[in-house]
Amino acid sequence: MSAQPVKVTFHGHATVSIESDGHNILIDPFFTGNPMAKIEPSEVDADFILVSHGHGDHVGDAVAIAKRTGALVISNFEIVNWLANHGVEKTHPLHIGGGNTFPFGYCKMTIAHHGSSLPDGSYGGNPGGFLLKLNNGKTIYFAGDTALTYDMKFLAEENVDLAILPVGDNFTMGPDDAIKAAQLIKPVTVLPIHYNTWPYIEIDIQALQQRMIKEAEVGVIVLEPEETYLVP
Ligand code: NI
Ligand code: MN
Repeated sequence: MSAQPVKVTFHGHATVSIESDGHNILIDPFFTGNPMAKIEPSEVDADFILVSHGHGDHVGDAVAIAKRTGALVISNFEIVNWLANHGVEKTHPLHIGGGNTFPFGYCKMTIAHHGSSLPDGSYGGNPGGFLLKLNNGKTIYFAGDTALTYDMKFLAEENVDLAILPVGDNFTMGPDDAIKAAQLIKPVTVLPIHYNTWPYIEIDIQALQQRMIKEAEVGVIVLEPEETYLVP
C-alpha cells in the first residue's frame, strides 16, 4: 500500500480543504466576506462540501460552489433541506451521532455546543462537527464551532491524527478550553482555526501553540491561509 498522503489546506477562518485518495472535501466554505480569504469561491475545487452549522461564516459560499462544482453537500437534515431549496442538487443529510460511508471514507456528525440559525433566519437544526475516517487510514476530527465538551473524551478512542479545533474565544472555545479539548481528544496534531478573523476572536496564536504543545503533549500546526499540511 502506498497511500497518497492526506493534504489539508487552510483557507482562513474555519474553511479547510482535505484531499484524500483523489477526493476533494471542502469544509465550511466561507470566502466571500472572509477577511482572511486569499482566493475567490470560484477558484476552489470540491467533490464534497461539509457544512458544520448554519451560521454565515460556515454556510458561506456553499450554494455557489456546490452549483458550480456539482459537489455532494453533507450537513444536518435542516441545513441540507435549506440548501436544496436554494438550488443545490446533490445533498446528503446526517444528524448528530450518525454517520455514513462516502467514496472518501466514513463521516460521522459529532456534537457541538453552539447555535445554527441560517443566514436568512431559517432554523438550522443543531450545530455539529465531523469525524472523518478516511479510506487511506487517517482520522480527522473537525470540531465545528463549539464550546469545550466532555464528550470529546470519547474521541480519544478514535486515534485522531488531526484535530481541527476552534480556538479564538468569544464565540467558541478559547485557548484554555482548546488545550483541555486537546487533552481529552489526544490527537497526534491540532490545527487551530476560527481565530484572528475579526477583533472579537483575536488571540496570540504563537502563545497558544507553545502552551498546547507543552500542556496537551500534541503537535500544533499553525497555517496561513492557502498553506497546506500533509498529515504524516
Ligand atoms: Ni457559528
Ligand atoms: Mn463561526
